[in-house]
Amino acid sequence: MTTRIGFAGLGLMGSRMARHFLEKGFPLTVWNRTPEKAQELVLAGAARAASPKALAQASDVVVSCVSDPAAIERLVFAADGLLAGARSGFRYLDTSTISPEMSQRVAEAFRAVGADALEAPVTGSKLGAEKGTLLLMTGGRRELHDELLPVMMAFGSKAIYCGETGQAATMKLIGNTVISFMLEGMCEGLVVGQKAGLSIETMLEVIMASGFASPYYNFKGGAIARRDFEQHFSIDLLVKDQTLMLAESARLGAPMPGLAAIREVHQAARAQGFGQEDIAAVVKAVERAAGA
Ligand SMILES: NC(=O)c1ccc[n+]([C@@H]2O[C@H](COP(=O)([O-])OP(=O)(O)OC[C@H]3O[C@@H](n4cnc5c(N)ncnc54)[C@H](OP(=O)(O)O)[C@@H]3O)[C@@H](O)[C@H]2O)c1
Repeated sequence: MTTRIGFAGLGLMGSRMARHFLEKGFPLTVWNRTPEKAQELVLAGAARAASPKALAQASDVVVSCVSDPAAIERLVFAADGLLAGARSGFRYLDTSTISPEMSQRVAEAFRAVGADALEAPVTGSKLGAEKGTLLLMTGGRRELHDELLPVMMAFGSKAIYCGETGQAATMKLIGNTVISFMLEGMCEGLVVGQKAGLSIETMLEVIMASGFASPYYNFKGGAIARRDFEQHFSIDLLVKDQTLMLAESARLGAPMPGLAAIREVHQAARAQGFGQEDIAAVVKAVERAAGA
């Protein structure tokens, strides 16, 4: 593997994704806003870049996984950002969940300097990042998707081409809308059941044995049953995605009254101090509202 990889954003997802490049023999350089979080990968053999600009200069392809559009603003567009280190032939693959609008701005900026960018938001959570089984959705030039497939398959198991830049970002927000409804539906149902005297084990057994089933209910329902709210995907980040989706739906003139209501429940969970817990912890806000 001779493609020089740069990785920016070593949070819950990025730290696990970046490790696969080392394991598969790619030369790897890393950058994280909080430098201490890069230490483990540096000890495992990665080089450290002093800035995103230096990261781009040291790499053929930079992959990133940062929180939100504001983080992309800093990572890409700051004076010492990736764009300042880009040149003809440079490739940027962003796996963060951001707005379609920001994704388009990023792609246009890289194309203007003879480089190119592919948006590639992911799904599969912390465990998928760890195992290298993430599903990627891509948006941009189809040829760039094909070109970057070996890079994507270093940490993912499948990449689905969605269309032009912005469409994969939209697709990812659709996915997290579905998750928001599933989680809210399950939490509301479980709390009513609890008040009616049903055991959570019985409720989950019926859900999983029937047409109500989804692997997601097994994953999050099991966590709720164990009262295990260790972060896989934080409530803060899901609210970020719900907010991005509501802005996009407003822009397109497609009302989302269900999602708007669900976001308020997640906002309540944040106000109660659960923002940095896993999204399954939203059940605690639903329980509080019910006095359960
Ligand atoms: N967790 C999941 O299950 C999951 C699944 C699919 C997609 N995603 C998406 O993947 C992205 C990362 O998620 P995560 O769970 O890994 O989040 P996380 O653990 O909170 O990590 C966030 C990363 O973004 C960096 N960051 C935040 N603000 C920044 C800024 N202003 N400038 C530069 N860097 C900044 C953080 O740097 P510091 O270390 O300095 O804070 C950290 O490296 C998000 O877009 C999320 O929606 C998450």
